[in-house]
Amino acid sequence: MPYLIGIDVGTTGTKTILVDENGHQQASALEEYPLHTPQPKWAEQDAEDWWQATIKTIKTVVAESGVDKTAIKGIGLSGQMHGLVVMDKNHRVLRPSILWCDVRTTDQCHYITETIGRDLLLQSTCNPALEGFTAPKVIWLREHEPEIYQQTSTMFLPKDYIRFRLTGEVATEVSDAAGTLLFDVKERMWSQPVLDLLGIDSDLLPKTYESVDVCGQITGEVAELTGLQAGTPVVGGGADNACSAVGNGIVKEGRVSASLGTSGAVLAHSDEVKVDPNLRLHSFCHSVPNKSYIMGVMLSAGGAYRWFRDTVADREVAEARAAGVDPYEILGQQAETAPVGSEGLIFLPYLTGERTPHADANAKANFFGLTLRHQRSHLIRSVMEGVTYGMRDSLELIRDLGATVAQIYATGGGARSPLWRQIQADIYQAEVVTINIAEGPAFGAAILAGVGTGVYQCVESATDRMVEITSSTQPISENVEIYNQYYQIYRDLYPALKPQFDQVTQVVTQQSSDN
Ligand code: XUL
Repeated sequence: MPYLIGIDVGTTGTKTILVDENGHQQASALEEYPLHTPQPKWAEQDAEDWWQATIKTIKTVVAESGVDKTAIKGIGLSGQMHGLVVMDKNHRVLRPSILWCDVRTTDQCHYITETIGRDLLLQSTCNPALEGFTAPKVIWLREHEPEIYQQTSTMFLPKDYIRFRLTGEVATEVSDAAGTLLFDVKERMWSQPVLDLLGIDSDLLPKTYESVDVCGQITGEVAELTGLQAGTPVVGGGADNACSAVGNGIVKEGRVSASLGTSGAVLAHSDEVKVDPNLRLHSFCHSVPNKSYIMGVMLSAGGAYRWFRDTVADREVAEARAAGVDPYEILGQQAETAPVGSEGLIFLPYLTGERTPHADANAKANFFGLTLRHQRSHLIRSVMEGVTYGMRDSLELIRDLGATVAQIYATGGGARSPLWRQIQADIYQAEVVTINIAEGPAFGAAILAGVGTGVYQCVESATDRMVEITSSTQPISENVEIYNQYYQIYRDLYPALKPQFDQVTQVVTQQSSDN
């Protein structure tokens, strides 16, 4: 039987899985690494940490599965989007990689928007200049570390640097290239007009492929390090969001996923490139050949719930420890005792600013509407509800673009809670389903490897064969009515508080620079 490997170079760690042709997992390994914040707003990782984690996890899955290495037909790479890795002509990485969650580049975003102009952003890159994207990081490097910029001979995205180490090939693929802001999302090629206006030499960028194309083979040296067969094909793979979508079956018109991980993403497959005229949504190339997707991203989704657990819920965590259960179970039980809408307590989830729909690094989180009646249970439930209102903001924009939203596939940690699934169905006003697959981006990358090496005919038929719906939650009409009222208030809170968010940021920044 043919086997496939998927590797996801994530932000907390690298996960590698080995699956058989039916998508059944034979082995999985995760290796974590640190994220460095040497200055406020900075987020960096060491590309060598990704490499060591990749080698270690491949070695583990090959050994643990016991699969004959000649039966491993292909490897797919997935990874965190937008990160910048710079390498010199001697293949030396020149500085730590600047990540998607790094927000040092506000000035560079303004420069890019002014230089490229809104029309070209809308027509070519199909996305706004946001701090997280790659192009602002390139400009920052040129302005702040010119000696490093001058030595740079190749710029990579995170997973593509790993491809280089695995195969020796300098390559990327359309779904990740689309997140650089240097790529023409409609034409599926580097945008020469954008590169010219920004003065970035196209020789610095990798060659682009479709996600299912084979673009390299495992080298002899890597074969020795990992137990793989030299010459094993490596396909383009995809950005983590595109690969998750593939793994979840979001590969046809009408399919939408709502993922509640640390960040939140509402993602809709689209046969054609759809662009939000106000550039609040992301429009990226899909890993399905010649298809695309639109997506809204919340920076703190499950992350807000985890923050609550770690910062406020000591009592529930202690109770869970004593009972030997997951703290989220206790939190969920408590939240269930609070009424729908948390008696007017509304949580704004902007703990790390917000991307969609506000694109505002200064936005702050809030508990709004507290009264003496509110108990811990209300606080917990309102966090779940507030995050879900934020997801609905993205969903509304997707609906406004004319996308059909038939069912919503709930994924990520938040999908495990039946209560949170009900809250989602009620707030989204749509059926929420879960599926049999919970492996995330690495699984999608393995499917792409199977398509590229002829194990499967195409992405759509491969996922049809593997993805099954395992639960369905329907909206409850009384709840929908209550949530609709609170959602309108939620929407009004951000614009009302925006001036204060900016003022608070100013005072805090001033205070920290004085100290
Ligand atoms: C997408 C984004 C994140 C990263 C996380 O635009 O910035 O989802 O891909 O890995």
